[in-house]
Amino acid sequence: MLYEEIVGEMVQRIETGVLKPGDKLPSIRTLSQDFACSKNTVIKAYDELEKKHLIYSVPQSGYYVVDGYRARDHAEEAAADIDFLSAGPDRHAMPYRDFQHCINQAIERYKQDMFTYSDIEGLPSLRVQLARHLQELQVFTIPERIYVVTGSQQALHLLVSLPFPNGKRNICLEQPTHAGFIESVRQHQMTAYGIEVRRDGIDLKRLEELFRHHDIKLFYTVSRFHNPTGYSYSNEEKRRIVELAQQYDVYIIEDDYMGDLDSNRKADPMFAYDPSGRVIYVKSFSKVMLPGLRLGLAVLPDELRDTFLQAKFAADVHSPMLTQGALEIYLQSGMFSAHIDRMRQLYSRKAALLQQAYEALLPASVSYSGSLSGFYSTIELPAPLKAKQLLHHLREDRVFADDARRMYLSEFVKENVIRLSISQVEEELIERGVQKIAKGIVELLRQRTQVRFV
Ligand SMILES: Cc1ncc(COP(=O)(O)O)c(C=O)c1O
Repeated sequence: MLYEEIVGEMVQRIETGVLKPGDKLPSIRTLSQDFACSKNTVIKAYDELEKKHLIYSVPQSGYYVVDGYRARDHAEEAAADIDFLSAGPDRHAMPYRDFQHCINQAIERYKQDMFTYSDIEGLPSLRVQLARHLQELQVFTIPERIYVVTGSQQALHLLVSLPFPNGKRNICLEQPTHAGFIESVRQHQMTAYGIEVRRDGIDLKRLEELFRHHDIKLFYTVSRFHNPTGYSYSNEEKRRIVELAQQYDVYIIEDDYMGDLDSNRKADPMFAYDPSGRVIYVKSFSKVMLPGLRLGLAVLPDELRDTFLQAKFAADVHSPMLTQGALEIYLQSGMFSAHIDRMRQLYSRKAALLQQAYEALLPASVSYSGSLSGFYSTIELPAPLKAKQLLHHLREDRVFADDARRMYLSEFVKENVIRLSISQVEEELIERGVQKIAKGIVELLRQRTQVRFV
């Protein structure tokens, strides 16, 4: 097929160095003339090259060869590390060049402001852009209620210990959950009550009991693409949880760290069921953009404004101006939306590959969750296998994953759960990685039985 010919030709030009990293590819029009084909054929070929992470597109500019691309032969691929451990975004898909452009523009636009301290709440013009962007996520609020934070972790860390208008003291959280939140609870020596996230969600009766009897100030929930289980609540579950929070005067911190990746346009955030301030909506730019930006946001009720600003001031005065300015330009220019569209496609492709591999390869005695979330999922190992043993065994085979122990409060700890993140695993390596995990499980179980019966 003609588009494959174009793909082949471009791969050859890149591999032989005719096209170097950072070089611009021929325009769609030029190539359609050279190959005497339609522009759509060229676009299809360029899409294919983008999927292979050989090139990337810059809106209104063209296509470029990625930095650091090096042809990998099959032998090298077979020996490559398979990294289900790293939790950052897919490195190949990050908009470095676009963002560099936005940073340069931000320096130009905000050079005066950088010599002085700025607003604790965040750059006003960024907060306007954020309010617009949040509408896409069904979060309707005004810029004045949006607080820019230095990574969403900062909002979580500050909110854990702030006094809340309900005058209550304790924290309720899902089990397992984001390890950073558990660490904040520990650092502040708060009392925390866990509620188990199972394959079918949480037990709402148990949640009600906790809310009723334990002086719960706030319930921390990762409402979609849960870390680490990959679970997403249904709208009905979210509505019920918000109703319970209203009934028992509990605040909710809704950590929607990857909401942008949800292609289900009908999925509402909990915030949509009570925009009055009972649901504190927190969002990160780390998973969908660059973790090094250290930017996130929290939508807060007016009653929390003063205490939150005092705490934020004490922590770091305000988040860095330069990255705030660059994010504003990135959002305003439409680059962010285009980037998110690509990310959704990328992660849903990876999720489908993982799902197929889990279904086809994992032994029946293993249960797993979240394979369709596109980022995190967990595998629960059959007794007597422990996560530590399997991970040690897999390291020898150059497969890396995470022990989920640190994602539990001590009274909930499970020794037999591993977390996989597929964000930094190349598509071609997902199946091979799961195959190695499956083989490792079978081998270790066999060794155990042999030892017992010899
Ligand atoms: C569920 C969840 N929330 C928040 C964070 C923190 O993100 P940020 O980099 O915005 O501080 C993470 C980071 O891994 C996370 O997994």
